[in-house]
Amino acid sequence: MDAFEVLAENYEFNDIEGRCLAFRRAASVLKSLPWAVRSIGATQDLPCLGEHTKAVMKEILQYGRSFEVEKILSDERCQTLKLFTSVFGVGPKTAEKWYRRGLRSFSDVLAQPAIHLNRMQQSGFLHYGDISRAVSKAEAQAVGNIIDEAVHVITPNAILALTGGFRRGKDFGHDVDFIVTTMELGKEENLLISIIQSLKKQGLLLFSDYQASTFDLSKLPSHRFEAMDHFAKCFLILRLEGSRVEGGLQRAQGDGREWRAVRVDLVSPPADRFAFTMLGWTGSRMFERDLRRFARLERQMLLDNHALYDKTKKEFLTATTEKDIFDHLGLEYIEPWQRNA
Ligand code: CTP
Ligand code: MN
Ligand code: MN
Repeated sequence: MDAFEVLAENYEFNDIEGRCLAFRRAASVLKSLPWAVRSIGATQDLPCLGEHTKAVMKEILQYGRSFEVEKILSDERCQTLKLFTSVFGVGPKTAEKWYRRGLRSFSDVLAQPAIHLNRMQQSGFLHYGDISRAVSKAEAQAVGNIIDEAVHVITPNAILALTGGFRRGKDFGHDVDFIVTTMELGKEENLLISIIQSLKKQGLLLFSDYQASTFDLSKLPSHRFEAMDHFAKCFLILRLEGSRVEGGLQRAQGDGREWRAVRVDLVSPPADRFAFTMLGWTGSRMFERDLRRFARLERQMLLDNHALYDKTKKEFLTATTEKDIFDHLGLEYIEPWQRNA
């Protein structure tokens, strides 16, 4: 399973999308199994396992390792791209550019006067140790309390909901994701700005990248799959005091610090889009992809973070809860913790 993720990532770096997806699928399928694969025969009836995938599995079962995977792991380019993209704000394109310039380590990058880091990347390097360390459930809870206080000072009518991996019941995450909105349509636009201001005033804001809404009902439905939705959102780095965390911080900071930096994402859709946003942001990415595919191929419907569109009836289907969306799709409700694969 880990082997498939290595392969998927490698094909992603090399822009071979089909193969990347195939290995992601395979990893998901194996993850969802209640038993461990001990022979190739046992995988006969499983979906999404192609020839290449099976060949890798056979190798691992036989030799305890895969030569293709080992080659990738020891490959300098792959290791370097992995290192660079682990920095907040550094995507595959920037990583590749740096690699091509002959840079191989963080100190190589930071020592290059010709390289201009944007604000996000500067914060990424500055807080690298903290934000590359997993966030615990207790830390996520403490972040939730901070956001909740900020939101409710601004407006008592606000709705704040945890989403992302922690909503799926994960014990650790790379960030904490929230949806905030208000029943007063249109008012949600200023909500994020006010939250950011409040966090800043409290001295809790280490970084923020705010993206205003580009949501336009008249442009729906979208036939293209877009990686990002159009709602107002912000990517933050917050300062979390250990004293706010039940049981204290994940791990002592080593340098005697009583706080850590935490990545937080907030998205703020209009209230009538809440259910679609919740379904989209709860993830997992693979679950979302498969659900959208199912909607498209089995139901002739287009699903994204904004809406559900019935192509046969040529109309949008409304939903106030995730369950409404599953109903429209003719599916039984799937609990968030069952959406991990
Ligand atoms: N997402 C999205 N639009 C974005 C960002 C994220 O729809 N602009 C969705 C992703 O598809 C994902 C979910 O929001 O399903 C959460 O994203 P992320 O925080 O990256 O992943 P998690 O599943 O929360 O995992 P982790 O614990 O690593 O944070
Ligand atoms: Mn997350
Ligand atoms: Mn996130």
